[in-house]
Amino acid sequence: MARILITSAIPYINGIKHLGNLVGSQLPADLYARYMRGRGHEVMFICATDEHGTPAELAAAKAGKPVEVYCTEMHEIQKDIAAGFRLSFDHFGRSSSARNHKLTQHFAGRLADNGFIEEVSERQVFSVADNRFLPDRYIEGTCPNCGYDKARGDQCENCTKQLDPTDLINPRSAISGSTDLEVRETKHLYLRQRALKDEIEAWIDSKTDWPVLTTSIAKKWLHDGDGLQDRGITRDLHWGVPVRKGDAPWPGMESKVFYVWFDAPIEYIACTAEWADANGKTDADWERWWRTDKGADDVRYVQFMGKDNVPFHTLSFPATIMGSREPWKLVDYIKSFNYLNYDGGQFSTSQGRGVFMDQALSILPADYWRWWLLSHAPENSDSEFTWENFQASVNKDLADVLGNLISRVTKFCRAKFGETVPEGGTLGEREQALIAELQERLAAYEACMEAMEIRKAATELRAIWVAGNEYLQSAAPWTVVKTEPERAQAMIRLSLNLIRLYAVISRPFIPDAAASTMASLNCDDWTWPGDVAAALSVLPAGHAFTTPEVLFRKITDEERVDWQTRFAGVRT
Ligand code: 2FM
Ligand code: ZN
Repeated sequence: MARILITSAIPYINGIKHLGNLVGSQLPADLYARYMRGRGHEVMFICATDEHGTPAELAAAKAGKPVEVYCTEMHEIQKDIAAGFRLSFDHFGRSSSARNHKLTQHFAGRLADNGFIEEVSERQVFSVADNRFLPDRYIEGTCPNCGYDKARGDQCENCTKQLDPTDLINPRSAISGSTDLEVRETKHLYLRQRALKDEIEAWIDSKTDWPVLTTSIAKKWLHDGDGLQDRGITRDLHWGVPVRKGDAPWPGMESKVFYVWFDAPIEYIACTAEWADANGKTDADWERWWRTDKGADDVRYVQFMGKDNVPFHTLSFPATIMGSREPWKLVDYIKSFNYLNYDGGQFSTSQGRGVFMDQALSILPADYWRWWLLSHAPENSDSEFTWENFQASVNKDLADVLGNLISRVTKFCRAKFGETVPEGGTLGEREQALIAELQERLAAYEACMEAMEIRKAATELRAIWVAGNEYLQSAAPWTVVKTEPERAQAMIRLSLNLIRLYAVISRPFIPDAAASTMASLNCDDWTWPGDVAAALSVLPAGHAFTTPEVLFRKITDEERVDWQTRFAGVRT
C-alpha cells in the first residue's frame, strides 16, 4: 500500500467557480484521489479557499461586508458546492487559518535567515485621506490611451492597455475617491529566486516523467527574457498574513502583509495541519505527509492545477521550500490543464460568462457533469463545452450504454426469476470471452488512471461498459430463456455481477450512480476487481437485490435549448 498526497490548486474566495475552474484542478484531483483509495492506497486529499489579496478585499467591499465575514461566508458556500460535486477532500481548509499565518511567517523567517530575502525600497502611491499605500488596482483615473475615465492603475479595462499608476491622468483613490495622493518611499521584501535558480532547474530537470505542458511552462519562465526574477512577496494591504519573521516582528514591515501567492501554496501544508486539528490528530499525524524527516519520504505527492498556476508551483513554491533548508516534501508530479472554453467563447468569472458550479447542480445531478467534464478534460489542448455535445454524451454514454444495461438486466431478472441472483446453469464460451476481454480492458483502464490520462481513462471505461452491452445483446437471455432457462440464469447471474463490477470501477467518475447501484444490489463490497472471473462471482446465487430506479435520464432537446438560452447571457 502506497501513501499518496494530492492537492488541488486552491480556488480564490471571491465568487463561485465555473465549470472551467472545476475541470482544471479540483475535479481531476478528486478522480485520482478516489481511484487511489479504491485501489487500497492511503490518500490525503487537500484543498482550501485562497482568501487573501486585493480581489478578496474588493469583492468584500462590493458585497458591503467586512472582509473576514465575507470570506467566512464564501468559504461555507464553496464548501457546500464542492460537497455537491462530491469532491472528496480529506479537508477543505482556509488560507486565512491560524495554521497558515504561523507557517507562512515561519517560512519567511527561515528564508530570511538563509539569506534568500532582500529588502527593497520602492516608490509607491500613498493616499493621505485613506492613510494607506494603494495597490495598483486601487488607483483609478483617466486612461492616457483612450480617455476612459475609470481606468485602473494596472490596466485600462476599456482599451486593455497595461498601465502604471503614474500614467493615469487625474488619479484618485478607488477606496475614497480622494485625489490627495503622494508618491512615497516604502520597503518591500523580495524572495531571491535568482539565487535558487540552479537548484530549481536541476530539480525540474530531474523530473523526466512530467507532462510536457508542465515542463515547458516551467522552462519558459526559467529562461525567457531575463530569466527567473526575484519576486516581491509583501503588499500594503490590511487583509492577509501580517509580515513577521517567524515569531518575531519584522522592523519596518509593521503594516504589511505577505503577497497572496506567497501564502497560498503554503496553505497546502497548513491545511493538512488544519485537518489534524479538526480530527483530533497530533502534529505527527500531518507531519508524516510533509516532513521527510518524519515519515514523508515514502509519500508520493501529486498536484493538480490549470496552466496559469504552473509557474508558481514549479518555481516560486519550490523556491520557498528549498530556501527554507528544512526537510519539507517537494512535489513529485504536477498534472496541469489547458482551458475549457464555453460555447464559442471563454468561461469568465469577471464577466459572469458560462455555467457556474451552483447553476450546474441546480439543473442536473453531479454525476452528469462529472462524466462530461472528465471525459472532455482539456489535457492536451483547450477543449470546449457545448450543450449539444453535453446532451449527446450524457444520453449516449450514461443513459444508453451504462444505464440501459443495468436497467435491462435487473428488470429482466425480476420478471423471469424474481429479485434474487438466479442459480442455474454454468458459464459458456461467450462468457469466457467476455471475461478475457474485460481483463484486458481493465488493465488498460488502470494504466490510464495511474498515468492520470483522464480522457483516455474515460474512453477505456466507456469501452468496458460497451463490452457488457454487446455481450448482453448477443447472448440474448430473453430469447434463450424460452428454450434453455438455466443458460439464461447463468447469463443473468454473470450480468448482475458485471453491474457490481461496473459500480466499483466507475465510482471515481460517477460516485453517486455507483453508490445507488451498489445499494440496489444490496452489496457493500467495493473491492477492486483484480481477477475479473473472481469478481464476477461475488454476488452468489440467492442474493437478494432491488430493481433500481432509472439511473440516468436523457436530456431532451427542449431542455438543451432552454439551458442554452438561459446560460447564454452574463451572470450578474
Ligand atoms: O488560480 C487560482 O485560483 C489560485 N487561487 C490558485 C492558488 S493555488 C496555490 F498556490 F495554492
Ligand atoms: Zn484605455
